[in-house]
Amino acid sequence: MQMNNWSRRGLLGAAAVSLAGLATASIAEVPSSHASAEARAEAAVKKMTRDEKLTLVLGYFGSDWEGKKPPTPARYGSAGYVPGIPRLGIPPQWQTDAGVGVATQGGAATKRERTSLPSGIATAATWNPDLAFQGGRMIGSEARASGFNVMLAGGVNLARDPRNGRNFEYGGEDPLLAGIMVGSQIAGIQSNNIISTTKHYALNDLETGRKGHDVRIDPAAARMSDLLAFQFAIERGDPGSVMCAYNKVDGDFACENDWLLNDVLKGDWGFRGYVMSDWGAVHSTVKAARNGLDQQSGYPFDDKPYFGSLLKQAVASGQVSTTRLDDMAERVLYAMYAHGVVDNPVAEGGAIDVAANEAVSQADAEQAIVLLKNEGNLLPLGANVRRIVVIGGHADKGVLAGSGSSLVYPRGGNAVPGLDPTGWPGPVMYFPDSPVRELQRLAPNANVTFVDGTDPAAAAAAARAADVAIVFGTQWSGESIDVPMKLDGNQDELIDAVAAANPRTVVVLQTNSGVAMPWAPRVPAILEAWYPGTRGGAAIANILTGRANPSGHLPVTLYASQSQLPRPVRPGANSEMDEFALPYSEGAAVGYKWLDRNNLQPLFPFGHGLSYTSYEYGPISAAAGPNGAVRVQFTLRNSGSRAGAAVGQVYASPASGGWEAPKRLVGFAKVDLAPGTARIVSVDVDPRLLATFDEAAHAWQIAPGSYKLMLGASSRDLRSKTSVTLPALTLPASWRPGQEAAAPTPQRGERGR
Ligand code: BGC
Repeated sequence: MQMNNWSRRGLLGAAAVSLAGLATASIAEVPSSHASAEARAEAAVKKMTRDEKLTLVLGYFGSDWEGKKPPTPARYGSAGYVPGIPRLGIPPQWQTDAGVGVATQGGAATKRERTSLPSGIATAATWNPDLAFQGGRMIGSEARASGFNVMLAGGVNLARDPRNGRNFEYGGEDPLLAGIMVGSQIAGIQSNNIISTTKHYALNDLETGRKGHDVRIDPAAARMSDLLAFQFAIERGDPGSVMCAYNKVDGDFACENDWLLNDVLKGDWGFRGYVMSDWGAVHSTVKAARNGLDQQSGYPFDDKPYFGSLLKQAVASGQVSTTRLDDMAERVLYAMYAHGVVDNPVAEGGAIDVAANEAVSQADAEQAIVLLKNEGNLLPLGANVRRIVVIGGHADKGVLAGSGSSLVYPRGGNAVPGLDPTGWPGPVMYFPDSPVRELQRLAPNANVTFVDGTDPAAAAAAARAADVAIVFGTQWSGESIDVPMKLDGNQDELIDAVAAANPRTVVVLQTNSGVAMPWAPRVPAILEAWYPGTRGGAAIANILTGRANPSGHLPVTLYASQSQLPRPVRPGANSEMDEFALPYSEGAAVGYKWLDRNNLQPLFPFGHGLSYTSYEYGPISAAAGPNGAVRVQFTLRNSGSRAGAAVGQVYASPASGGWEAPKRLVGFAKVDLAPGTARIVSVDVDPRLLATFDEAAHAWQIAPGSYKLMLGASSRDLRSKTSVTLPALTLPASWRPGQEAAAPTPQRGERGR
């Protein structure tokens, strides 16, 4: 198939360029570790038998499943295993989930106990790419120490619906924020000489029907939303691998979707690594192989070994070309060489610096916690607060985690074992870091008591007798399910009862994503702590007592009600197998963009987050350079009396309209500021964020005219404005930062299709 040859040429072409400067030795014959990854991959493939190539493109589930055992060299209780080729020095691929740390799959009798970061959405709420990198570096180091060289981390599906049960694994609703934060985490993971796998490509934004629903979206709208998030993450993180998703996109399963895999990912974006399937996401051999899938994962999750004996037959009969099989194997090897997997073998039993790793997780959690509301400066808790009652959420025992394949088992075990569901996608897990214990430690002069909250009347009575009541509200979620946009059980009634009994009530939320807060008007202080990870109890207590100043900002809109969503009634019957069409009529207008477009007032807007100090934002200025470059400069000042970290958010809006929504986030920066100090910050705006994607021209188009640039503390709190005038500009679909605006990218026809 010509297109696949084209993709392959992309890879080999790059090899030719990077080889040009090398000395005379025949790299193809003697690939040393100094040769380029492309050259080494190409040389290795040349030496391989067909069966060896086939070995690299079929992965096995690494745990017991439905009575079937994994191959013996798999790491116990792991996500996956792909055999190596010892005679060529190619190690096996040992694959582990996922984005918050080294997971163990539910069936395994022994769990590896590892450090968990806060959830992905929490890390996004830090708006701090450096912290995301450090978190990635930390979990990647534990993956290496546990004998894994492929980490299935880097989830960047956009939060289109707060009920998506996997929002906690992703980076929020905005393509720029999500792409930068997740891309930074990927780079951190890969700094350990292992591969990270960004996922789930693409548009797997709902768990209901994830294995059968068909997302219908205008291709240009996809390029400006979910695909843009992947594009930014891939450019920033350079992941070795991309995991294609379960769902269909515009009629074809994502793992056999020619447009997603060949045209966009490998064609326009020039992705040189390999595409691995999600576990059980493959439906064909010939179509999948031709349309861009490079490695089938997690067999026997799929009903057939599509990339095993069936691919062998397809290559033998010519239905899949030998060139394409070479390309598949070469892509896998390229990623392994490029990311140090071959030269730096992993082994089990490596040392883990628990204290250092937990400190990374705690720093992430502290910066992730969003102070949503703080009337009368109820927080931080002052020294005069003598009687504190903590209510509910098992806060005497620990902090909640999100479940599913990404679940990390903590040292010390589940703090609240036995909660339903105890099986998949559970267990419900509480990490043993108790907020109550931490509060008792930090506020030795206060009497901190705990009431479990099962009886709202008893909780109200305890609240009445306290100076301050702190209710812990929880919403558990896990892979393969969606969740209602509310706290679990009767916690809304509990909070109402407590707030009625004591006007000095604080609510601390641990949720998948945003929930409705019918009690919000009656509660003076609210913290969103997401799933805060291994040291979540300490992080929450530090924020409550003011040892840490809140600096998190919402990476998602908190909706006032479900009626504000593009699809108020969630489609499907909450089974991952449901088959239905899922039209994304909102197109690229995700989250705040949708609300802005429809003039709707959120409960708390995207980007919102208070602190214990105050900041001034501005002035802002902007200058336009060649090739769509726009540099924005602004001042952030700490005008209060505590040290803190301010997040400057820059939104753009074209005077002539024409975007999916009135404005887009086009840049951001988080800076530490001592009281009374100011910093001037420069941010370069990616021109694709000032453009719309034009399918017919296969290019990004910036319309000529004036663009307003607004600096603020949230998407609805814009304090300083400026504008720039931009000329018309066309950037090819293949454009990348640092490139000149060049001739348009080859069209489909020119690629020989
Ligand atoms: C999930 C992936 C995960 C894989 C391996 C799938 O069910 O969707 O995110 O990486 O399992 O455990």
